[in-house]
This record gives sequence, C-alpha cells and structure tokens, in this order.
Amino acid sequence: MVQVPVWNWQKVAVENLAEMQKELWNIVPEVIPNWETDPGQFIHVDVNLIKKFSPLYTNLISNLGLTDRWHTSALITTNKDTTLRIHTDVYDPSERCFAFNVPIVNCEDSYTVWFKAENPVINTINPEDGKDKVLFYNESTAVEIDRMPATTCAFVNNHTPHRPETGHSKFRAILSSRFNPELFDYNFGV
Ligand SMILES: [Fe+2]
Repeated sequence: MVQVPVWNWQKVAVENLAEMQKELWNIVPEVIPNWETDPGQFIHVDVNLIKKFSPLYTNLISNLGLTDRWHTSALITTNKDTTLRIHTDVYDPSERCFAFNVPIVNCEDSYTVWFKAENPVINTINPEDGKDKVLFYNESTAVEIDRMPATTCAFVNNHTPHRPETGHSKFRAILSSRFNPELFDYNFGV
C-alpha cells in the first residue's frame, strides 16, 4: 500500500518565473493551435518539446532532482466554455498521485480546487488509455475542502478529487508535470 499524502499542495519558490513563462508560452500554439477558441482541456505535452522550448523549466526540474523521473507533462487550460469536471487523475494512486504545476498565462482569479466528493465513475471517454483512467465524481454533492491560486508553483495532490475553476473567460494555461516512479519517497519538505 502506498501512502497517499494528507496535503493537497506544497508551494515551490521559483525565482525566474516570468522568464520561464515566456518560454513556456511558446509551447501552447504548438500543442493547441486553436488555443484562442479551444474550450479548455487536459492535453499531454511531450517532455522533449518542453526541453526544446524552455531551458529554464528543464533546469527547474533538474534542481528539484526529478530529471530522471519526469516522464510526461500536460497543459491544463481553461477558456470561456470550459467543462472540466471534478475528478481524480487515476484510480490507482501508485500509478499517478502527484503533479508539479507551474502557471503559464492568465492564472490570476483561477484556482485548483479540491473536494470531498462521492460516487466516482470511471471515465468512459478514453477507456483504452491505461494512464488516463480518470474518475469523475458527483458534482451536486461535492463539498470544497481546499483551493490553491493557479498562480502558484507547487506540487499538488491529484488523488483528492479536484478541478480547475477560473473566474474570468480568458484563455488560462498551466503546465502540469508527472513523474515515474511516483513521488512517494520524495522529500517535499513536510
Ligand atoms: Fe487532475
């Protein structure tokens, strides 16, 4: 049995964030060419694309001691028609439990929100994708338990039900990286 974290987020201080965001922004049109009208989504980004576009982010991952475990990333975007639901990323936390999130653009008045939620159902949209066995939860009975400003660089707990919430209608993007093996042995400083 793995030990699922009791915390939802752990802030990481990043000194050169503004410069890093300029580098990361260049990834967006590569992955989401129609980003201006895209309704918002979770979309995988190849690690090598990030290494190509953002030396500062690549160096940050190195400084965190996670280069060898950084195996994929995703853009998590919201826009005026976003419908991202309350979910846990994968029902087996040993497969996916943690992410490292960095804001890219328009993350003010936007949050990652965690919930006490029930009645999980397996996502049937992409059931063939073994790494994306997302569980969706009942929205009407879910109760908010925590929220993190999306402007925060942080390790986040993906095993507690969560979703992005944005109070404006502009395109918002964060970069969320995933690690293998999972970070159960990592020293988050807690
Ligand atoms: Fe998630």
